[in-house]
Amino acid sequence: MAVLVTGGAGYIGSHTVALLTQQQRDVVVLDSLELGTKSRIDTVPFFQGNISDERLIEKICKKHDITEVIHFAAYKAVGESMEQPLRYYNNNVGGTIDLVRALLANGVERMVFSSSAAVYGNPASVPVTEDSPLLPESVYAETKAVMERFLASCDAIGMRSVSLRYFNAAGASADSSIGEDWSMSQNLVPLVMKAILGFSGPLNVFGNDYPTPDGTCIRDYIHVEDLADAHVKALDYLEQGGASLACNVGTGRGTSVLEVIDIAEQVSGRKVPHVVTSRRAGDPTSVYADPTLVRALLGWKATRDLRDIITSAWNWHSKIENV
Ligand code: UD1
Repeated sequence: MAVLVTGGAGYIGSHTVALLTQQQRDVVVLDSLELGTKSRIDTVPFFQGNISDERLIEKICKKHDITEVIHFAAYKAVGESMEQPLRYYNNNVGGTIDLVRALLANGVERMVFSSSAAVYGNPASVPVTEDSPLLPESVYAETKAVMERFLASCDAIGMRSVSLRYFNAAGASADSSIGEDWSMSQNLVPLVMKAILGFSGPLNVFGNDYPTPDGTCIRDYIHVEDLADAHVKALDYLEQGGASLACNVGTGRGTSVLEVIDIAEQVSGRKVPHVVTSRRAGDPTSVYADPTLVRALLGWKATRDLRDIITSAWNWHSKIENV
C-alpha cells in the first residue's frame, strides 16, 4: 500500500512528500521534472514521466501497490496560461483525464486534488465559502475548475476525491531543507525575499488605492507545512470512506501586502525595498477563506501564523547568502 504523489518534486508537493515520509507512509513520486526539482525528494522512490503516460502509471501502480493518489502535477503560471490555453488545457485537464483513466484501470479509487482559491475569481464577499460561485478569471483557474468538476463526475465511476482549494501557500520547511524556488514563482512572499536580499530591484506593490485599511490587497497566506498536513488529512478522510468533496484550505485571516512587508522587515531586520505601482490586472481586492468545512470534515486547521511563514521563508531564502 502506497500513495502516489504526482508533481511531488514541486513546491507544495515536496513538503507533502516530506510529511508523509515523516509519518512512515509509503510514498512514490511521479514528476516530469519540467518544473520540479529532484533533490527535494531524494529519499523516496521516484519516476520521471508524464501523468498522461498510462503504461507508466500502470507500471507504478503494480510495482508499488498504489492505493491512493495526491495529484499536484499541473502548470500554474496565471499570465502564461492566458497566452497558451492549448498547453494548459492539454496538460492540466487532458493529463488529469488520462491519469484518472489509468488509475481506475489499476484499481486506484481515491484522489486528493490540488485545486486553488483562484476558482472563485473575484469573490462577491469574504470570507469565501465553498458555495460561492466558481467564476475563474484565468485559463489556469478555469483548468482547475474543470478538473474539479471532472473529478466530481468521476465519483459515479468509482473515483472518490477531495479537491483542496488552496489560498496563498507560502513559507518553507522548519528545518530550511526545502522551500520555494523564486526563479519559478511570481508570488508575493518569494518576491519580497528576493527584494530584501538584493537579487531583484525593489518589490512592486501592485496598487495602494484599494478599499482596504491600508489600500493594498488582502490575501490569506497559509504555511506550506500546514497545507501539506491538509493533504494527509484528506487522504485519511477518503480512506475512512468520506464522500467526494471540494473544500477551502486557508487560515480565515486576511493580510495586506504592506502587512507582509512589515513582518518581513521585523523578521529579517532589513528594509524591503519597494515602490507602489499601478494595480495588476485582474487582482481581486480581498480574498480569504472561510475554513469551517475543512475543519469540520477533515479535522484540519492552520497551526502556523504569518510570522511563522515569513520566518521560515527568510531562513530558507537567506541561506543563499550564507553558502
Ligand atoms: C495566487 C496565485 C494563484 C493561486 C492563488 C491562490 C500566482 C501568480 N497567483 O494569486 O495562482 O491560485 O494565489 O488563491 O501564482 N503582489 C504585489 N507585488 C508582487 C506580487 C504580488 O503587490 O510583485 C500582491 C498581489 O497584488 C496580491 C498579493 O501580493 O495582492 C499576492 O499576490 P500573489 O502572490 O501573486 O498571489 P495571488 O494573486 O493571490
